Amino acid sequence: MELKKILDVRRSTRKFLEQPVEKEKLERVCQMALQAPSSRNSRSTRLMVVTDKEKLESLAKMRDYGSAFMKNATAAIIVMGDKEASDLWLTNCVISTTILQLAIVDEDLASCWVQIDGRPVLQAEPDGKLAEEYVRELLDIPAKYGLLCAVALGYSDFKPADLPPYQGEERIIWK
Ligand SMILES: Cc1cc2nc3c(=O)[nH]c(=O)nc-3n(C[C@H](O)[C@H](O)[C@H](O)COP(=O)(O)O)c2cc1C
Repeated sequence: MELKKILDVRRSTRKFLEQPVEKEKLERVCQMALQAPSSRNSRSTRLMVVTDKEKLESLAKMRDYGSAFMKNATAAIIVMGDKEASDLWLTNCVISTTILQLAIVDEDLASCWVQIDGRPVLQAEPDGKLAEEYVRELLDIPAKYGLLCAVALGYSDFKPADLPPYQGEERIIWK
């Protein structure tokens, strides 16, 4: 797909069909995401692909707001960074995630970012258990990997509402 079309089609999608995503597609989107640039070519990003239904249901409970829809996704990709490989592991993760979401569109799939980094499990308890701790325990992720987010994905026939206006006059500053 042409880049302009991918950017137009990419929208956060939280409703998925039951049709599972082929392993080859999951491999291809991971490969594209891992082609992202990284600070000092540190290649610090790591991806964990989850397709197990029970684990997806548990992931949906990582937070009591903004993650429940994950139980209906057919896959989720946890985006992590090796803290020992780069001090900019989190920035590297953000770039990989952005490319991952675009690559997902290119495979005729849809996705939504679910933030892990900095988010508590319970919205009413911002100083309580973190989503990062919950996901780390659930998926047995070693301490040297920092977690940015999960990208929930799958096939979808969801039609999102139109985007708000582009607001170029406010958002682009010309000097
Ligand atoms: C850094 C970041 C964190 C996000 N976290 C969540 C989240 O935890 N749960 C969720 O449902 N959507 C999340 N989103 C999706 C945004 O809500 C969505 O991108 C935004 O509303 C714009 O809609 P669009 O992606 O369809 O253009 C996140 C997006 C970004 C970029």
